[in-house]
Amino acid sequence: MLKETKMLRDKKVAVIGVGKIGGTLVSGLLRNNVVRKENLAGSTAHAESNDEVAKRLGVKMLRDNATLVKGRDIIILAVKPQTIQKVLGEIKGSLNEDQLVITLAAARTTQFIEENLGKKIPVVRAMPNTPCLVNAGMTVLCPGKFAKPKHVEMSRSIFEPVGLVDVIDNEELMDGVTALSGSGPAYAYIIIEALAEGGVKVGLPRSLATKLAAQTLLGAAKMVMETGEHPAKLKDEVTTPAGTTIDGIMALEDGGIRVTLIKTVDRATEKSKELSK
Ligand SMILES: NC(=O)c1ccc[n+]([C@@H]2O[C@H](COP(=O)([O-])OP(=O)(O)OC[C@H]3O[C@@H](n4cnc5c(N)ncnc54)[C@H](OP(=O)(O)O)[C@@H]3O)[C@@H](O)[C@H]2O)c1
Repeated sequence: MLKETKMLRDKKVAVIGVGKIGGTLVSGLLRNNVVRKENLAGSTAHAESNDEVAKRLGVKMLRDNATLVKGRDIIILAVKPQTIQKVLGEIKGSLNEDQLVITLAAARTTQFIEENLGKKIPVVRAMPNTPCLVNAGMTVLCPGKFAKPKHVEMSRSIFEPVGLVDVIDNEELMDGVTALSGSGPAYAYIIIEALAEGGVKVGLPRSLATKLAAQTLLGAAKMVMETGEHPAKLKDEVTTPAGTTIDGIMALEDGGIRVTLIKTVDRATEKSKELSK
């Protein structure tokens, strides 16, 4: 077992909002034996979803957030940004400064969380993504003003079993992180889908075309991560003079793929900034 996963074995963890990303995290913590099932509990807004999650993930689900956080070492907030203030109001009376709050909400700063809690509670902001479900996530952490290095390490140990983790100090960068790796899986799925359509256009069966597109992106991503080479150099290695690839690249550039993707991240960053106001 990894050092960081051992660190959490006896910690009591609460997840408020076991929805898409909260559920992904809970299943990752269980799958990787990071937290004991009996030490993990959660909540959702509705009785039906509470029952469904309890059945699906086998964790204790409570209806009352104030009761849920009592005696928990780590509280993970995985509710929508527009719900977070209400939840903070529900739990602040039950929290003390020995507990750690990890917030996943996009566009909600650590200062916002700290002010709403009204105490010197350590807060770490985290931006994970859905590939945490297959242990290939990307999470960026940013500590608030009361979080100490041990709180960052504890947060790291939550996300490291389900993917890569980076820590930043400048919280303003979290809008760009949200736009790139938080939302990024959605962009990648569209690219995979479109490449597969290309395969279908030239006669490949759809299931084969989808597999070729997805595995090719996975392989290219691994090449970038594992060789440490610049993507442009790796691209040049595929592009034989007067070969097929350069014709494909010509069509890609003609469609403005680079500027489209730059604008994609830029627009999503602006939206995140707008939501934080
Ligand atoms: N999805 C992603 O890829 C992703 C990635 C990084 C960060 N995030 C952030 O994570 C947060 C959740 O996003 P999501 O996509 O997982 O949304 P989601 O699937 O809608 O999940 C939200 C969850 O919060 C629950 N909830 C609402 N009010 C609650 C309350 N008062 N007490 C307890 N639980 C409550 C909902 O319960 P019901 O189901 O009963 O309504 C639902 O389970 C957002 O702030 C988002 O910015 C998401």
